[in-house]
Parts: sequence; C-alpha cells; structure tokens
Amino acid sequence: MTAFSLLTRTDRDAASMRRGGIDLTIEDIGARAASFPAFDGHELVLHARAPSVGFDAIVAIHDTTLGTPLGGTRMRPYRSPDEAITDALRLSRAMTMKSAMAGLDLGGGKAALIGDPATDKSAALMHAYGDFLNRIDGRFSAGQDAGLSVADLDRIAEVTPHVFGSSLRGGGDPSPDTAIGVALGIGASVRHRMGAESLSGVAVAVQGLGHVGAALCDILAEQGARLFVADVDSARIAATVARTGATAVAPSDIHRAAADVFAPCALGGVLDDATIGELRCAIVAGAANNPLGAEIHGEALRRRGILYAPDYVINAGGLIHVASELHGWGREDTLARIRRIAATLAEIFARADAEGVATNAVAERMARERIAREKGRGKR
Ligand code: NAI
Repeated sequence: MTAFSLLTRTDRDAASMRRGGIDLTIEDIGARAASFPAFDGHELVLHARAPSVGFDAIVAIHDTTLGTPLGGTRMRPYRSPDEAITDALRLSRAMTMKSAMAGLDLGGGKAALIGDPATDKSAALMHAYGDFLNRIDGRFSAGQDAGLSVADLDRIAEVTPHVFGSSLRGGGDPSPDTAIGVALGIGASVRHRMGAESLSGVAVAVQGLGHVGAALCDILAEQGARLFVADVDSARIAATVARTGATAVAPSDIHRAAADVFAPCALGGVLDDATIGELRCAIVAGAANNPLGAEIHGEALRRRGILYAPDYVINAGGLIHVASELHGWGREDTLARIRRIAATLAEIFARADAEGVATNAVAERMARERIAREKGRGKR
C-alpha cells in the first residue's frame, strides 16, 4: 500500500468541508480511473470540486518512487470529467518518465482543471485549488502548464506553500527554459538525422505560439532556422511573424508543411494515423506533451523514417527550471542540466537505431530502468 492510498473513506468524508464559504469536496476516484485505457497503476487519482466557485479538477499521482510529484496544472474546457481523467492519467505518467530521464528526484503527478482559461478563471477558483493542495498536505505541488499563467500561480500561492513557479516565491514562468531545451533537442535531432551541426537553413514548422512556441521561434530564428508557424490565435501569429520573419501557415496545414522538422507546441494527440500519413518532415521534435495519439504512433513514425524526439525528454527544461527552485540551484547549474537533454536524446536515438525500435519505446525503458534501480536501492 502506498502512502497515497491511505486516503481512506473516513478521510474522504472528512475532506468535504467548508472553508471561508467554499464547498470543497475531494473524492478518491482511483477505482473508476483503473478502468481507463490510460491507467498505468497510478497511485492516486482524485476528483476535487468546489461548485460555488467553479472549481472542478482531476489530480493524478502516477509514481512517487523518485520523490514528491511536482506537476504542472493544466486548464482546458474538457468536454467531460472522463476526458480530464484521461488527460491527467497520461500527463502524470509522462511526468514520472520526464523526471526519471532528466535525472530529477521528483515523482509524477498532474492536475487538470476543467474550465475555459479565457473565461472561467477567478481568484476564488485559484484559492479553492490552493485549499485543495493544503488539504492533501503537500502530496502534490502545483506548477504551470497550458492554460495557467504565473499570475494564476501567484493567486494559488496566496493560500498554499505547495506551488512552484509563482513570482511571489519562485522563479516564475518555466516556459523559456522549456524552449531552450526544445531548441537543443531539435539541434540534437538534426545532428542525428541530417548530419548537420547547426540549424542554419533548417526549416522548422512550429505548431502553437504560446508560452513555449513563441520563445522557441525566437531561439530558432536567432540560429538561422527558416520558420513556418501556426496558431489559432491570429494576434500570436502576427507577433511571431513580426519578430522572426516566419511564414504563417493555416493551423490545419502546419503538420504537413514542407519543413525538415515539425515542432508540435500546442496540445497533445496531434500525431495519429491520419496526420502521420501526411507528414513531410524528417523529424518530429517539439514541446507538446503527449503529441502521439497513442504509444504505437511512435512506431508508425519510425516506419515512415521520421525521427521522433520523445516529448518528456525534449520538453524537460521547464521541470528542471521548477526543480531548481525546489533545490536552490544557481542559473549555471540549471542550464547545465537543461543542456544534458541533447545528450540524453542522442543516446536514445543511437539505441533506437541499434535495436531497430521506436525512440519512445527506448525512452520508456530507460526511464523505467532508473525507477526500478531507485526502488531496488530502497528509495521509498
Ligand atoms: P500555451 O497555452 O501558452 O500555448 C499553446 C498555444 O497553442 C496557444 O497559443 C494556442 O492558441 C495554440 N493552439 C491551440 N490549439 C492550436 C491548434 N489546433 N493549432 C495551432 N495552435 C494551437 O501553452 P505552452 O505553455 O506554450 O505549452 C505548449 C505545450 O507544451 C503544451 O502541450 C504543454 O503541455 C507543453 N509543455 C509546456 C511546458 C511549459 O514550460 N510551458 C513544459 C513542458 C511541456
């Protein structure tokens, strides 16, 4: 039995509470989540709600062998709680793998807030989330992910210490460091697949110009890459085009742009049977979590001769940034750890080539090997 499963029925009943008029309830939905295809032996899955302030969240803790989960919080207008459960299950598992591959002593967890970030955010909602984090007593610490800003983390930090990346106490937005890692990972991928030592003249199609995508474009443009960009937000396209001279492409066409690299930096699930058949790139390497519709699509990319940089390896810069806040690493130490992303990818690519298997399969095996080693050393 893990520490997390000690949240008993009595605890759950006690977790229904009123704090400053907030009707926060926490339900252990592990048994229900176990029937989901994305379930992978997760240690704890919670559904937390405070209807009076519109707070509705799924929090999944995948594995705590390496340490306390320090996962991002995503906010999306999920069509149903089931969709949020699937997202949280997949994302929390990826966090376990990400931490393992980045050499961090952090577990895997993720929170999915159900709501439209453009219209549904409020201070009361963020405070309810902070109350929830207090209630589970640091078993999960929140960070930033798509849909949440540093200002939102600041709100959460007003009521709980279990948050990283706020400007009140921490290092702020991790996205620039995620972008640095992704750019280094694109460099490692180009070196492996195209034999080129620089990104000069390399064409990169960037899908999504948010926190990470926009910063990535700036780095790539500086290194002489030719950029194709798409977003559903025309203001973001205009801003990136003005800064970098990128060519704008329709969102529906960006994955099939005639580019060397496709860099998904929006949401997940963009690579499925249909879109993989349409790709014209040699490399898929971007920030988006879970860009593969399913793990099997890693093999589909390999069969098409397309090199795939596993998401949780290439996009670990943000987590390293947040871990630096936890451990008090200086800037040089943090950057050195981010630079290791390129070497880790090179090792994955070499192993995948030697064994004739998909890169995501190699990454998963390497991550699980580290966790098994740590378990063997009695880390928990
Ligand atoms: P964001 O929310 O700031 O940006 C996402 C962008 O994608 C927005 O500009 C949005 O308009 C655009 N978008 C949405 N649907 C689109 C579509 N169909 N076609 C084109 N563009 C579309 O999110 P952020 O923080 O930049 O993250 C991007 C991805 O990277 C997410 O998958 C996130 O989970 C992942 N990631 C982010 C990290 C970070 O440090 N922010 C760390 C690791 C992963």
